[in-house]
Amino acid sequence: MGKGDGMEKVVHVDLADRGYDIRIGPDFGSTLEAAGEGRAALILADSHTGPLYRDAVCHMLENNGFICSYLEIPAGESSKCLSQLGAILEHAVEAGLDRKSLLVALGGGVIGDLGGFAASVYLRGISFLQIPTSLLAMVDSAVGGKTGINLPQGKNLVGAFHQPVSVAVNLATLETLPEREYRSGLAEVVKYGIIYDEDFFGYLEKEQDALLRRDAAVLAHVIGRSCEIKAAVVAQDEREGGLRAILNYGHTLAHAIEAVFGYGVYLHGEAVSLGIVYANCVSEARCGLSSDASRRVQDLLEGFGLPVHIPRDVEWNPLRAVMSTDKKAQRGVPKFVLAERIGAVQFGFEVSEEALEAAYRSLASPDRQ
Ligand SMILES: NC(=O)c1ccc[n+]([C@@H]2O[C@H](COP(=O)([O-])OP(=O)(O)OC[C@H]3O[C@@H](n4cnc5c(N)ncnc54)[C@H](O)[C@@H]3O)[C@@H](O)[C@H]2O)c1
Ligand SMILES: [Zn+2]
Repeated sequence: MGKGDGMEKVVHVDLADRGYDIRIGPDFGSTLEAAGEGRAALILADSHTGPLYRDAVCHMLENNGFICSYLEIPAGESSKCLSQLGAILEHAVEAGLDRKSLLVALGGGVIGDLGGFAASVYLRGISFLQIPTSLLAMVDSAVGGKTGINLPQGKNLVGAFHQPVSVAVNLATLETLPEREYRSGLAEVVKYGIIYDEDFFGYLEKEQDALLRRDAAVLAHVIGRSCEIKAAVVAQDEREGGLRAILNYGHTLAHAIEAVFGYGVYLHGEAVSLGIVYANCVSEARCGLSSDASRRVQDLLEGFGLPVHIPRDVEWNPLRAVMSTDKKAQRGVPKFVLAERIGAVQFGFEVSEEALEAAYRSLASPDRQ
């Protein structure tokens, strides 16, 4: 991933007066231009991303006339909490941040969600710049403006819509991302192909090996196209009235798996991979998805080293019970996004108990291995 090889890509997120650009490049140089000039900036990072990238980001900002302060929090989902939010807000006051200051979220989705939420409430809202460093954050959490934190009672229970001034993707940061985290991010990429773009899905199949090698040119295209798809969906439905639901393909079961196994046993993308295979099974029964298409998706997920079957001793009932509490469920009946074919999905399906359980049996079956 050499510097200056000219593969910068810009994706515009079109949200009226809150529109912004996602810049995808081989280094921080160009991507930080969008931060503007000369104010106080607080760089928020976690204990993995901070030591790796804080100096480079700080130098870039200082070269643009910013005065930087820095706060590092422990890596991991448990930092997306009220006490870390409090620490950031207090640090912001002590560092003298005012209404014109900038919060820079340098990390994965945890830092983006937490930092974005802090920026949305500090002095009733200051600017923030997203520098996503995990693949999941680059293709998903940094795009769309949802920010928030967890409560002991559940994930993402407190939050706000707060759009960044810009999203700066430095592809070189992916070189240090652990393999399992990287592959987990690929599950969301596969999802974009299924929900929106058959050609893109074909590209992922064709470039599977290049993706596993983290080839920079292929990644620039894949991240750019994923951002375009998410941005297009969000632009049509910023506050989740309808279409945005399609971004949840595979997520009904994924959320249940994460809750039942406890967060961390399956990474989010791994749970999404299982959820996609499950949603495909339901789609075959309810929506006319061909078994060939289903097989192609499963092969691609497996090619990326993602799980496509669930251990047979995992019981259905606890998972089904969590599905009833899904935010999209009405009167305990989960609403599904289902695929007609690769590249075309519909949302709002209610599915019979028999079909839900039959798809689960199929996911647990060794023929799916
Ligand atoms: N706001 C949204 O729309 C949205 C969408 C999807 C997910 N999310 C949220 O995103 C979070 C998950 O994001 P995530 O998967 O990025 O988790 P994460 O932020 O915990 O990052 C995963 C791990 O990778 C490390 N890491 C990140 N970048 C690295 C790099 N370049 N080099 C080395 N290590 C690196 C992190 O320190 C962490 O240990 C969840 O809290 C989820 O709720 C939000
Ligand atoms: Zn997801």
